[in-house]
Amino acid sequence: MTYSFEMLCPNRIVFGCGKAETLPEEVRRLGSSRPLVVTGPRVGKSAVAGSLLALLNEAGLEAGLFDGAEPEPPAHLVEEAGRRIAGEGFDLLIGLGGGSTMDFTKGLSICAADRPLRSMVGRGLVPSKGMATVMIPTTAGSGSEVSPVAVFAFPEEGVKLGLSSPFLTPDAAVVDPLLTVGLPAATTAHTGMDALIHGLESFLSRRSNAMSEVLSLASIREIVPWLERAVRRGDDVEARTHLSLGSLQAGLAFSMAGTAAIHALAYPPGGTFHVPHGLANTVLMTSVLEFNLPACGDRTGRLAEALGLGGLADDEAAEGILSALRRLSSAVGCDIRLRDLGIDREALSGMAKACLKEERLLGNNPRTVTEEDALEIYRRAW
Ligand SMILES: [Fe+2]
Repeated sequence: MTYSFEMLCPNRIVFGCGKAETLPEEVRRLGSSRPLVVTGPRVGKSAVAGSLLALLNEAGLEAGLFDGAEPEPPAHLVEEAGRRIAGEGFDLLIGLGGGSTMDFTKGLSICAADRPLRSMVGRGLVPSKGMATVMIPTTAGSGSEVSPVAVFAFPEEGVKLGLSSPFLTPDAAVVDPLLTVGLPAATTAHTGMDALIHGLESFLSRRSNAMSEVLSLASIREIVPWLERAVRRGDDVEARTHLSLGSLQAGLAFSMAGTAAIHALAYPPGGTFHVPHGLANTVLMTSVLEFNLPACGDRTGRLAEALGLGGLADDEAAEGILSALRRLSSAVGCDIRLRDLGIDREALSGMAKACLKEERLLGNNPRTVTEEDALEIYRRAW
């Protein structure tokens, strides 16, 4: 852990039940008069999108709607959409949806100038800021509303790869837990586990610092006691509020400290086998932690405490963490193995090669991961 850090986040983060109504204010504050709401087809048809568009138009803004954002967005679709909206006079993008939609929006903002996304994969390779963005998440998980990261699928290479740049940090985030009420149980579970893993990985990251670790631990304390309840009772506003807050805190934490091997190893199953991001992470979570925790020193005990496992001796803490996380993933219906996702054992060696492309993430991992290590971890999770 270091006492030196750089914190990048939106200029304004507005959080609270009902705060979605402040969207027109945030858009105006950024000097926009013609925003484009970017969303997926399902959210695009929802009452939420309808009422936000009405609010924007009532406020005298000439808002447009693009509802072609796709889950796990393939880079070429983002680039095509960028070409389509160029020249239509939009001056700000509003990303309304889950992590994929917000990443799609970030991609649109920077590829309008016709730069291929593939050339910007990695850290710090986006040459300049694109159109301003306001994010308004409808899930509690990705943290994309505050992060400088966007992940895209590159189908021709069978991988998902991330771009990380200060130019991807949204200009504003409006986080309204009420927008997550009624999300299906499985989506709640996958996105909630993703947020929890952002907290875990940023805490154990080599780039964790005095500011990020406060947010990482807070996010874990916020998510763990409430996730099961939100999965079982989708309309529980109190549980939804804790998850949205925890996801936001985890997003701020990993924006500084990064995520690590769980995310890196989860990208090949996501990219090739189209396993939802949060589920792919959850399937690999305990196998990666089993590998990492012996290298985490006193962080293991502190992590156990944040998970509500106080009073464990150092040598018991790792086992305690692993069983608590196994219990939680099983309680929210994510207790499955790679083989249950239709992945053959023969595919594991290809995945072990592919995950090494995620140098940006593996460099944060508390323990160096070789191809053999990755293969062993995949075997344990299979
Ligand atoms: Fe994630």
